[in-house]
Amino acid sequence: MKQKNVTHLLATDLDGTLVGEKELTSALFEYYGERTYEVELVYVTGRHHDSTMELIKAENLPMPSILISDVGTEMYDFDDPELHERWKKTLEEQWWPEEISQIAAQCSGLTPQSIPSTHRLSYFAEDAGAFEEVKQKLEENGVPHKLIFSSGRDVDILPPNAGKGEALSFLLREKGWEKANVLIAGDSGNDRDMITMGYPAVVVGNCQDELKKLPEHPLIFRAENHCAGGIREAWEHFFEKETVESNG
Ligand code: GLC
Ligand code: MG
Repeated sequence: MKQKNVTHLLATDLDGTLVGEKELTSALFEYYGERTYEVELVYVTGRHHDSTMELIKAENLPMPSILISDVGTEMYDFDDPELHERWKKTLEEQWWPEEISQIAAQCSGLTPQSIPSTHRLSYFAEDAGAFEEVKQKLEENGVPHKLIFSSGRDVDILPPNAGKGEALSFLLREKGWEKANVLIAGDSGNDRDMITMGYPAVVVGNCQDELKKLPEHPLIFRAENHCAGGIREAWEHFFEKETVESNG
């Protein structure tokens, strides 16, 4: 399949990042419409596929060309359905769901989330102690995994080579988009590994506490504005500096 030439790409989380303040979301897309280049859209969310589609509809968001859902364990390329299969195959290499659910069941502060996902197990944690407990038990038992704590409540247990960052790296490689001007945007713990990938990234102004602790880095921009307003602020910072300056 011929690769699409992409010069600019926004890889963004949805809840609390692209979505949250309606006027700011529409202003961002209006702004993109006024650019001389096209902005390729990739949504990278913790939600599962159907729940994401409902949100896209309810919020009247443009369809992305790619959707990475389920905290980077599912990947839908609407032009190339096989990408999903290739990604899943890499996750299968180290995925021990039975062992993980048995261990999580021993942690009294964890309640399973009811989700249709096959390559992640997610829970609601009563408190940070429940997260620490499952972390320790997984380590003690030598179960391969990636553990993510978001918004002081959500616990996701994924195959070790999954997650938003790994999924996005795989996607950029597969599509030959690694050299594009990429901006990555997020607001909570499950966005951390994509924000620290080494591409320009933004932590929006309304971020959760867990992202406030990220180390300072020139490629990590901390926006003052909330949600899509923060994305716009970072876009100007990274990609439109000259225009802003030359306009005085
Ligand atoms: C979203 C998902 C939830 C997940 C959380 C953190 O809220 O719906 O399943 O645990 O993101 O990744
Ligand atoms: Mg979010």
